[in-house]
Amino acid sequence: MNPTPRTGAQAGSLADRFEATFGAAPHGVWAAPGRVNLIGEHTDYNEGFVLPFAIDKRARTAVRLRSDSVRKDSTIRLLSTFGDQELVEADAAALIPGTVTGWARYPLGVVWALQQHGIEIPGFDLLLDSDVPLGAGLSSSHAIECAVITALNELTGAGLSAEEMVRLTQHAENAFVGAPTGIMDQSASLRGASGHAVFLDCRDQAVDLVPFETEKAGLVLLVIDTKVSHSHADGGYASRRASCELGADVLGAGALRDVAVADLGEASSLLDPVTFRRVRHIVTENDRVLQAVDVLRIQGPAHIGSLLDASHASMRDDFEISCPELDLAVDTARAYGAIGARMTGGGFGGSAIALTPVQDEQQVRDAVVRAFADAGFTRPDIFTVTPAAGAERVS
Ligand code: GLA
Repeated sequence: MNPTPRTGAQAGSLADRFEATFGAAPHGVWAAPGRVNLIGEHTDYNEGFVLPFAIDKRARTAVRLRSDSVRKDSTIRLLSTFGDQELVEADAAALIPGTVTGWARYPLGVVWALQQHGIEIPGFDLLLDSDVPLGAGLSSSHAIECAVITALNELTGAGLSAEEMVRLTQHAENAFVGAPTGIMDQSASLRGASGHAVFLDCRDQAVDLVPFETEKAGLVLLVIDTKVSHSHADGGYASRRASCELGADVLGAGALRDVAVADLGEASSLLDPVTFRRVRHIVTENDRVLQAVDVLRIQGPAHIGSLLDASHASMRDDFEISCPELDLAVDTARAYGAIGARMTGGGFGGSAIALTPVQDEQQVRDAVVRAFADAGFTRPDIFTVTPAAGAERVS
């Protein structure tokens, strides 16, 4: 049990709570999951490959449009079951990037991005809850954005494709929230499928669903939430992105996706040492994603452990986005039975994943908790996740 829950999931019907709050039933309830990335980190904005999956934890949103065309009421009222739980009011016609703080910037960012795309959004009421741990690196913010865009797409009859919704939520994150992130998280949330990882080519958004059934292989995928909070609106993420762009520029590549492992020898003589290491991470990580997809298809999940380990080492040593808590989680999990482990997500905190034989699960959990206590770190949260369905209407 987590003694200090960081999620807003509550028992009871969200629709009932909506009606009690806003005085009328919602027009529907939509849900969108968080994600774990199996492998392929920081490759998305380099037009490369990623292999995330939608997890069995999700944000849910109940929405009612206020279609009072006479008064042209563009008031948005938002309430969440987490955070300070105060009603937020905004004018759909007067949203300004960078001016909204807290969780409300995610739904409002989606509204703003839809409007930028020429889709008129009337006033509406929205109630949100989520059992995606907040700030754990599992894309709780994208889960919110994807639930909201799925709801508004349907309610306004906008008819957007999943690919368009991916680009619009990215625009919301980049331009409204101010985080220069790629397209991996929302692709997993919108396009995930039960029992599968989402093999995504970030250049053209082509998706291949790859079976990833841990249970059948006698494995569990443990998430170790280090409780080290991170924000991709801070400098670290943007500086890594800038290094990648510099590297691609110097190498004359459109994007680092176009640089092959065999090109790295030459690249080392053209790039400064730090930029070279950043580039080497991206180039080798793309290669590891392709290998992981092949291994999963041919041999199954029990055989991707060494790729997960190599990915972590590359992020720790070349991309330098790990932290002592993530390294300890990974090293301890490996020492006590995990067949592969790595940090997942943007880095600088958040969660690690450890692919672990069922029979070693408890011993890995105990060892990680003990190691964190010995190191004087905050007690981590440890839980299992399985690949689940992407965003959908639930009632
Ligand atoms: C965050 C971003 C993604 C991706 C990952 C790193 O989760 O939102 O777009 O860049 O970091 O792989």
